[in-house]
Amino acid sequence: METSQAIERPEVALRGRDVLGIGDLDAREMRAVLALAAQLKERGRAGDHPPLLEGKVLALLFEKPSLRTHATFETGMFHLGGHALYLDDRSAGLGRRESYADIARNLERWVQGIAVRTFAHANVEALAAHARVPVINALSDWEHPCQALAALFTLQERWERLEGLRIAWVGDGNNVLRSLLLGAVRLGVSVAIATPPGYELDAATLEEAGRRAAPGTVIDVIDDPVRAVRDADLVYTDVWASMGQEGEVERRRPVFARFQVNAALLARAPRHAVVSHCLPAHRGEEITDEVLDGPRSVAFDEAENRLHVQKSLLALAL
Ligand code: CP
Repeated sequence: METSQAIERPEVALRGRDVLGIGDLDAREMRAVLALAAQLKERGRAGDHPPLLEGKVLALLFEKPSLRTHATFETGMFHLGGHALYLDDRSAGLGRRESYADIARNLERWVQGIAVRTFAHANVEALAAHARVPVINALSDWEHPCQALAALFTLQERWERLEGLRIAWVGDGNNVLRSLLLGAVRLGVSVAIATPPGYELDAATLEEAGRRAAPGTVIDVIDDPVRAVRDADLVYTDVWASMGQEGEVERRRPVFARFQVNAALLARAPRHAVVSHCLPAHRGEEITDEVLDGPRSVAFDEAENRLHVQKSLLALAL
């Protein structure tokens, strides 16, 4: 298809930059990523995919399983006229056959960017320290910045603004929450966090979020899901045990039981509030079928939006 008009490229200096955590993007840069994502989404829906990364290759290093992240990075590079090179642990022995530092020293000779999904965040940092091409965190135990960008994009699409909105997080104090909180407050979105005792977000992240928060933005840390959702525009949850914590599932189930996002909890939120989930969902645990499949769920919109925000990020960084 003929490209009808030129893409408006936001004037931000992201070329060559790493995105190891959402904090690597300031408020203006995050807004730029969301703005370009909106253009790419609109054009993409009309079958118009501007080849902004023609001839460029993105390496995908994946130690953990993935549906959304793998599919959206690979599809995104195809749409942008580039290529994605998928390397998993079995084929490349990530960090075992060769250190992440040496993987970086090799890959930078062939590719223009690296997206990595790994357990230890130190592996993401090692790649970034040793590669002269941008490294994007596609999920580590510490952060999931691409998910946060997709969640914020979805929220912005819904309400046509971000400033002044309020997210209620209900569940584990995990990597997705860390990225979502640090990104949201910088854009003026308040966050209420309800986590079970013993599964709270760490104090250093909360302190960092407080420092980054735009004026008027509130961070509430409570252990009561009902209070958390009371003024929410978006109720967000994620699995009770993340990848690598499978051995803790049975121990966590009773602790997290009252943190399930179900119809009764949603009834305590404002009528306009929507619900999202990082996915994959453990239906019947952290979220019920009725809510995830219900009219207030935007979880699958957010999954779609992973594609658009990552295309935007890649187009700006590679
Ligand atoms: N939300 C998310 O990152 O999904 P995958 O684990 O399937 O990539």
